Amino acid sequence: MGQEVVVEAGAGLGASFTDEAFTAAGATIAANAGATVGTADIVLRVQAPEPGEIGTMKRGAVLIGMLSPLQNKDAVKSYADAGLTAFAMELVPRITRAQSMDVLSSQANLAGYRAVLEASVAFGRAFPMMMTAAGTIAPARVLVMGAGVAGLQAIATARRLGAIVSATDVRLAAKEQVESLGATFLAVDLEAMKQMETAGGYAKEMGEDFARRQREHITEALKKIDIVICTALIPGRKAPVLIGADMVAVMRPGSVLVDLAVEQGGNIEGSKPGEEVVTANGATILGHLNIPSHIAIDASQLYAKNLLAFLGLIIDKDKALKIDTADEIIKASLLTQGGAIVHPQLAGA
Ligand code: NAI
Repeated sequence: MGQEVVVEAGAGLGASFTDEAFTAAGATIAANAGATVGTADIVLRVQAPEPGEIGTMKRGAVLIGMLSPLQNKDAVKSYADAGLTAFAMELVPRITRAQSMDVLSSQANLAGYRAVLEASVAFGRAFPMMMTAAGTIAPARVLVMGAGVAGLQAIATARRLGAIVSATDVRLAAKEQVESLGATFLAVDLEAMKQMETAGGYAKEMGEDFARRQREHITEALKKIDIVICTALIPGRKAPVLIGADMVAVMRPGSVLVDLAVEQGGNIEGSKPGEEVVTANGATILGHLNIPSHIAIDASQLYAKNLLAFLGLIIDKDKALKIDTADEIIKASLLTQGGAIVHPQLAGA
């Protein structure tokens, strides 16, 4: 694309990418972010910059990353005030042309895989059935709540490890996907589920009645479940609480629950961001933060590909920056431009 690339020293070490590897790929290494950010036309980041860093970027610079704009409206205002052209990768629409830029999918897929592995390590038993001379080990029973990208990968991973897997979702379309992976779908109300998907394929917030019936249904199921992986999200909203403390209480000692939604408020009552909570009945709730970072090499590789595809959209054939605000992908992901908040969901916020 004809761009000069500068990488902050040590930026890749947490994901096992050395400065030498970046140099070999044609990048220059800067001693630190401060030494280079001020002259950059485009700044690529994983997450949102620290407040102190925003002012160090030049006015008119393009900032691209997983900026969590709906959760950080003040930060979006500061990008506008600093004259940045900021793009949030999470807001890239799920259309065919943008599939290679879909960070939600690339990271959620890895998160779903890793969540099962984290659960398996915290679990004091094996996942597969084993028949040994010393006795037979029963297979673990796993329940996946939310069968989107992360949930489907969690199902596939738990199945590969030999567990008996069931899953639930509010979207009817998820039923067939769950069953095609060899898991059992726990349906609360198939008729009501027909109305619970938006045109974009996302879940709608469930009503009080549906939520109550889901809780009853799942509470019954939990009595025989060893591992729960929760992945349920509603775009732009706090995550729904799907498992109350009373529901955790029916589980057997040694059960493990993973709350992948913990950063969005949590699907499990009592989960704590970044913490491992042991409940009174001996269940463990894992609230790991940023689970994709636990599988950093693959997460970085896939995220880098997502960013590269996105750059292809804003760098033209003449290697110049060209932002076509009429483009559907740009329109959906552009937060701020020319000193103003331009995103429809955030303007006026
Ligand atoms: P998400 O991360 O927003 O939510 C995860 C899952 O939780 C979803 O399946 C959702 O239906 C479910 N959920 C929400 N509230 C729930 C509740 N109260 N109880 C049970 N489950 C609940 O979803 P994700 O993984 O981003 O996928 C959303 C949709 O987008 C899916 O239909 C997926 O197939 C589709 N998709 C389309 C892509 C494309 O066309 N390029 C790429 C990736 C996903």
